[in-house]
Amino acid sequence: MSSCPVIHGAGASSAPAFPIKRQCPFHPPKQYEDFQQQAGPTKVQMWDGTEAWLFTRYEEVRNVLADNRFSGNPAIKGFPSLSPARNAVLEAEPAFIRMDPPEHGRHRRMLTKEFMIKRVSALRPKIESIFNRLLDRMIEKGPPANLNEDLFLPFTSEVIADLLDVPHKDHAFFQEQSLKKVLLDVDPSIPKEASAKILDYLDKLITERAKNPVGDDMLSRLIVEQVQPGHLTHRELVVMADLLLMAGHETTANQMALGVYSFLTNPDQLQLLLGDPALLRGAVEEMLRFHTIVHYNAFRVALEDVEVAGQLIKKGESVIALIAGANRDPSIFPNPDKFDITRKADHHVAFSFGIHQCLGQPLARVELQTVFSTLFQRMPTLKFAVPAEQIKGKGDHFVLGVESLPVTW
Ligand code: HEM
Repeated sequence: MSSCPVIHGAGASSAPAFPIKRQCPFHPPKQYEDFQQQAGPTKVQMWDGTEAWLFTRYEEVRNVLADNRFSGNPAIKGFPSLSPARNAVLEAEPAFIRMDPPEHGRHRRMLTKEFMIKRVSALRPKIESIFNRLLDRMIEKGPPANLNEDLFLPFTSEVIADLLDVPHKDHAFFQEQSLKKVLLDVDPSIPKEASAKILDYLDKLITERAKNPVGDDMLSRLIVEQVQPGHLTHRELVVMADLLLMAGHETTANQMALGVYSFLTNPDQLQLLLGDPALLRGAVEEMLRFHTIVHYNAFRVALEDVEVAGQLIKKGESVIALIAGANRDPSIFPNPDKFDITRKADHHVAFSFGIHQCLGQPLARVELQTVFSTLFQRMPTLKFAVPAEQIKGKGDHFVLGVESLPVTW
C-alpha cells in the first residue's frame, strides 16, 4: 500500500502551468493521465510566461528523445526554463550532458568503455564489499538509523570516489560538498561555493594525477589516452569528472531510498522478492520505472521545424519529453500506478532515451542490485521508525527521493 492515495483524472486546464505540482510526492501529477488521452503534445506555460510543448506518451517521448533535431543545449534560444534555480545551475560550464552532436559524442565516447556492462560487472565484488562494510557499521551502531545519510549516500559516494581514485582522507569533503551542490537545483539563494569547491578539488586532483598517471583508475586512463595526446583539455576533464560525480552520487542513493520506501509500503512485494531471488533484476527495473527520479531531465529546443505525432514543432520552440509520464503510460505498462516487481519493465525510460541516455546505468544497476539483494536479507525486521505518512517525498526536486528515511530493526 502506498501512503498516499492515487487520484485519477484531476482535470487539466486549457494551458496548464508547468511544472505541475504533484498531488502525492510518490506519483506523477494526475494531469499527465489527461494529457495522455490525446495524441500529440499539450501546450504548457512556464514560470517565465514562455510556452512549451509537453509530451507524456511513451512512444512520443521516445521519438522526441531519439531525434537530434531537438537540442539539449540550454544556451540555445527557446530552451525551456524550469525555474530560476535551474537556470542558475545551467549557467555553469557545460559538460557533455548539455552538448549536441558532434561535440557530445566526442566526449561521451571517451567514457564508453569505462561504463561497459562487462567492466562494471567486474567491479561487483568490490561494490558489494563496500556496501556490506557500511551496513556492518550501521548495524553495529544500532537502531534507529537514517538510511539516506547512514548508508546510501556514503555507499554511492564511496563507489564514485573509488572509480575516480579519490584519496580516502578526502571522502568526507567530497560527500559534503556534493550534497550541498545538489541543493542548488532547488534554492537559488544557496551560495554557489560548493560547486566551485568541487571543481577546485577535482582540478587539483587531476593536476596531481597527471604528474604520475600510472594507476588503474579512470582518471589516469583519461589523462594518458585523452589529455596527453590532446583530444581533451585538462579543464574539460575536470568538468567531465564533476558530471560523473554529480550524475552518479545522489541519484542512485535517492533511488535506493525510494526502493526501500516502496517495499516497506508494499509488504506483499517484499515477500515476493525475499521468496524468489530471481525477481531481483526485474524488481530493480520496476523501481526505476515506478519512481523515474530524474523526472525533469528531458528539456529540449527544436533546431528546425519537426513534426511529431501530427504536431508541427517550429524551429526555436520549447519541448519537454517527460519520461515520468512515459513510464506511467497505461498502454505500455498496464495498471502503471501499481508497484509490481513481477511485471516486465525493462523497456522503461527512467535512464532517458537517445544520445543522452544515462551512461552510468550499468553501474547504477549493480549498486541497486547489491542493495536489494542484501539489505532486507540481512535485516529481515527492518521497518520505518516513524509512521509511513511522516516519510516526506521530495516531490518538487529536480531529482526525486525522500527527505529522510528513519528506520529501526
Ligand atoms: C538510479 C540512478 C540513475 C538514474 C535514474 C539516472 C538517470 C539519468 C537520466 C534520466 C539521464 C539523462 C539526462 C538528460 O537527458 O539530461 C542521465 C544521464 C547521465 N547519467 Fe545517469 N542516472 C543514474 C545514475 C548514474 C550513475 C551511477 C552515473 C555515473 C557514475 C550516471 C552518469 C550519467 C551521465 C554521465 C549522463 C549523461 C549522458 C549523456 O549526456 O550522454 N548516472 N542519467
